[in-house]
Amino acid sequence: KLTVVSEAMHGMNHSVVSEFVFLELTNSWEIQLLLFVFSFLFYFASMMGNLIIVFTVTLDANLHSPMYFFLANLSVIDMAFCSITAPKMISDIFKRHKAISFGPCITQIFFSHVVGGTEMLLLIAMAFDRYVAICKPLHYLTTMSPQMCLFFLVTSWTIGLIHSVTQLVFVVDLPFCGPNVLDSFYCDLPRFLRLACTDTQELELMVTINSGLTSVGSFVLLVVSYIFILFNVWEHSSGGSSKALSTLSAHSTVVVLFFGPLMFFYTWPSATSHLDKYLAIFDAVLTPFLNPAIYTLRNKEMKVAMKRLCSGLGHYRKIS
Ligand SMILES: *[C@@H]1O[C@H](CO)[C@@H](O)[C@H](O)[C@H]1NC(C)=O
Repeated sequence: KLTVVSEAMHGMNHSVVSEFVFLELTNSWEIQLLLFVFSFLFYFASMMGNLIIVFTVTLDANLHSPMYFFLANLSVIDMAFCSITAPKMISDIFKRHKAISFGPCITQIFFSHVVGGTEMLLLIAMAFDRYVAICKPLHYLTTMSPQMCLFFLVTSWTIGLIHSVTQLVFVVDLPFCGPNVLDSFYCDLPRFLRLACTDTQELELMVTINSGLTSVGSFVLLVVSYIFILFNVWEHSSGGSSKALSTLSAHSTVVVLFFGPLMFFYTWPSATSHLDKYLAIFDAVLTPFLNPAIYTLRNKEMKVAMKRLCSGLGHYRKIS
């Protein structure tokens, strides 16, 4: 009988909190307007820029190489990543009561970790691709075969999924009995855990290890491999090295700007400062914009392909 009562109470507890409320970032109307304009513009630019990359790579046969396939896949991931949190955040900015119910909140956490984990692994695959292209150019075509690329892609998504599921199975059943205020603009796991009305210290440690160590680990791995490639380029400095260096610097810029905020969120002991929240906005709408910005502005092949695509479309319009 006692278990029935406790189960009933557990169920009741669970239903006490049916939604979570996001705290306002600021009271100032001007700053809200600024945030709105900034987020809206960058969200729009991210989606457009990444779409253009996907179209260009898909339609231009000259860009059908592993590096550009990975880049297009990264663009798809970036579009998904900023669409998980940004639309709700943008439409919430001027609302007095910013709420999200339990289901959508869990969904946000789930997908942001799937997509984030996959992006990390894809960046590692891209580093490996650059390593083979620069250090083992003669084996490039055999090593980075279409099957190998597909293998990298499937593995990235699988591990991203596993990473997210292993965290969420411990979280979906947590009892919430209030308070229900999340000091954020989307459901992030560390803050979500702190609202549960049981002791979540072990869970928080698990998240720090799972998300924190994975991001720090991948980051260190990437930095080391880029340094390794760089040394190789310097040793065998030849005609192609400046091009290699430019793609390499583009890759590493993306890596630093993607991992910087992530590592801060998941490993900082009590990340509840304001800086943290502004960094989260940065991560949500600005990082996805980096790929198109960096790759299209600095990459000659990409620019040429885009021009070709544009003139091709113009030509097509004239004919039809
Ligand atoms: C993603 O990568 C795979 C494997 O290289 C490729 O076949 C596919 O076309 C890529 N996706 C996009 C959108 O380019």
